[in-house]
Amino acid sequence: MTSESPEPPRKGVTRIVFDDTAELARGAAELVATALSHATSGRGTASFVLAGGTTPAASYRALARKSVDWGSVDLFWGDERCVPPDHPASNYRMASTTLLEPAKVPAERVHRIPGELPTDRAVREYETLLRQRFDEPWPRFDLVLLGMGVDGHVASLFPGHRSQDDRPWVIPVEGGPGGIDRVSLSMGVLTAAEQLVLLVSGAAKADTVKRALTGTDPGLPAAVATAHARKVTWLLDRPAASGLL
Ligand code: 6PG
Repeated sequence: MTSESPEPPRKGVTRIVFDDTAELARGAAELVATALSHATSGRGTASFVLAGGTTPAASYRALARKSVDWGSVDLFWGDERCVPPDHPASNYRMASTTLLEPAKVPAERVHRIPGELPTDRAVREYETLLRQRFDEPWPRFDLVLLGMGVDGHVASLFPGHRSQDDRPWVIPVEGGPGGIDRVSLSMGVLTAAEQLVLLVSGAAKADTVKRALTGTDPGLPAAVATAHARKVTWLLDRPAASGLL
């Protein structure tokens, strides 16, 4: 059972609240599969940016069971920890075990961030890859999936982060959680997407969700992304939405 949250969302921002994490995962998989099928049927290909962290894992498992033409979908990552692809902290590894392998996504459609390289080289290589794929001022991904940290970060854009300028598509983030460097898409890239979907679960994030969505903390990266993106959908379980209901 889902419910739209009571207050009218800001224009262009949809909030869908699911009863529990299992429903959230099913709902997220359904939304992503529908968006990708719409893009591939319209243009023959689609581009999908995966989120990292732990929340998306159940959604990726559900998505792997959906009928998506993965041979027509290019997969990218919103951010990556600077670790090898088989490291337990790797966002690629999490997606590989929950989605890429079960759904048999063709390897040529998988464009991971080379976290095993020195950070600056990984940034350069990923930016080059993206600029070869998208010949436009900003890459217009069909769908960018993001999680959100308790501090309101999205991808690896943490509160207080100021990229030196808004030109880069890919940025290094030194000393992320656990002291691990990261590579992240910039805010400009995230908000250039056709559709941004934020996937947030758990009561611990309820206050941050409320501050991000009610405008009381507009500087939160999750709030900035929501304010500047073309089309934004927040997928929440009831505990994460408890500050809104
Ligand atoms: C990462 C993610 C990060 C994540 C949030 C939420 O690399 O960690 O990109 O932005 O989505 O930190 O993480 P959880 O889903 O584990 O709460």
